[in-house]
Amino acid sequence: MAAATAAGAAAAAAAISLFAYYLLLRKSGSKLPWTLTTRGNGRRTRRKGLMQAIGNTPLIRINSLSDATGCEILGKAEFLNPGGSVKDRVAVKIIEEALESGVLVCGGVVTEGSAGSTAISLATVAPAYGCRCHVVIPDDAAVEKSQIIEALGAIVERVRPVSITHKDHFVNIARRRALEANIASAQSETNKMQTNGSAHVTVEMLHPKQTNGSEYANTEVPHNGKELCPDSGSKGGFFADQFENLANYRAHYEWTGPEIWEQTKGTLHAFVAAAGTGGTIAGVSRYLKEKNRNVRCFLMDPPGSGLFNKVTRGVMYTKEEAEGKRLKNPFDTVTEGIGINRVTANFMMAELDGAYRGTDREAVEMSRFLLRKDGLFVGSSSAMNCVGAVRVARDLGPGHTIVTILCDSGMRHLSKFFNDEYLANHGLTPNAIGLEFLDQ
Ligand SMILES: Cc1ncc(COP(=O)(O)O)c(C=O)c1O
Repeated sequence: MAAATAAGAAAAAAAISLFAYYLLLRKSGSKLPWTLTTRGNGRRTRRKGLMQAIGNTPLIRINSLSDATGCEILGKAEFLNPGGSVKDRVAVKIIEEALESGVLVCGGVVTEGSAGSTAISLATVAPAYGCRCHVVIPDDAAVEKSQIIEALGAIVERVRPVSITHKDHFVNIARRRALEANIASAQSETNKMQTNGSAHVTVEMLHPKQTNGSEYANTEVPHNGKELCPDSGSKGGFFADQFENLANYRAHYEWTGPEIWEQTKGTLHAFVAAAGTGGTIAGVSRYLKEKNRNVRCFLMDPPGSGLFNKVTRGVMYTKEEAEGKRLKNPFDTVTEGIGINRVTANFMMAELDGAYRGTDREAVEMSRFLLRKDGLFVGSSSAMNCVGAVRVARDLGPGHTIVTILCDSGMRHLSKFFNDEYLANHGLTPNAIGLEFLDQ
């Protein structure tokens, strides 16, 4: 018994020193490409290199919609970010917070499950922070997205869409990949330190912040984790977790929201946007409400999403539609990156006054209308946001200023949303002349 206790104490001591060494290793030697400064009461981040080009996007007057409604309808041109979407801000914030806290080190791999935009943004900015990127993407997302991610040098896994409750949902696979990279990293460090192979590493010891509450939190990692992530190198992994990681919300609360406030000089009356993770609508709505409680904030929800019900009735779905039974899949909507059937940590931060619903037909027609009238070539979520902006304008009446987000460009959507054959197959061939499609 005494021998067993002594052996246990020795093992615990070995584990603790291994963990301390591991943390030290993770925190060491990073030259960070940003600095925090304070000006007045505010905290500002000064970035170098590529990151200087992210954010500060123009707020464009959408002339056609403004003239048609008598309101000022303004679109935040996020498609002008270097990674091509609003998600550049999120990628920057997630990586910076992870590097600051030490859960990611330069040379580590950032993993993410993403329908495309966040993956492209992570793959774009990760090298600027000395990191690598591994993304898991549902195989129904437009193929050009995974081609771009591959071209950017990230590892891409395309997988079948399944429910979030399934272990092979793309988000769950991405989480696993980060753990595997950590196991490989710990393995390689342990191999260097130990010759007798008695050390025993647990996932919790490696990443306490990343494992809390996850299905992997108590997983014991066998000493031999060699084959799990052969490509990950030896600096470990970090699961970006855009749905639950509040760095996403903070990107918009600290960055997009203040820009909108300053660009409108605080004169806007309403903000409307669809939600994918909920980061944009949460961060922007909360910031704007803090500046002025009277700014009205609305969700725009696509087909197949449960958020409209959540906002308007407090419940997400009927019993038949509960998460795990119902999928948000290509049969629900042709829009990409928006709509969800669970309440994420990010969405919970939103402060909303109401919600609207939009149809695929409205999104398709709106995208063509904006092209014809304004020369704006935007993707499906931006088109849906503009449908929302018109709904809000009509409800508030002329004379109001309404802001929405132009999330990405139509160039990301050539194989589906801007493909005549694809739309014809879904009975969505556009044929409207004006905005009459919004009256049906
Ligand atoms: C193209 C596009 N638009 C809009 C969104 C929704 O933004 P958020 O995740 O901040 O709700 C996403 C999210 O992935 C997206 O990819």
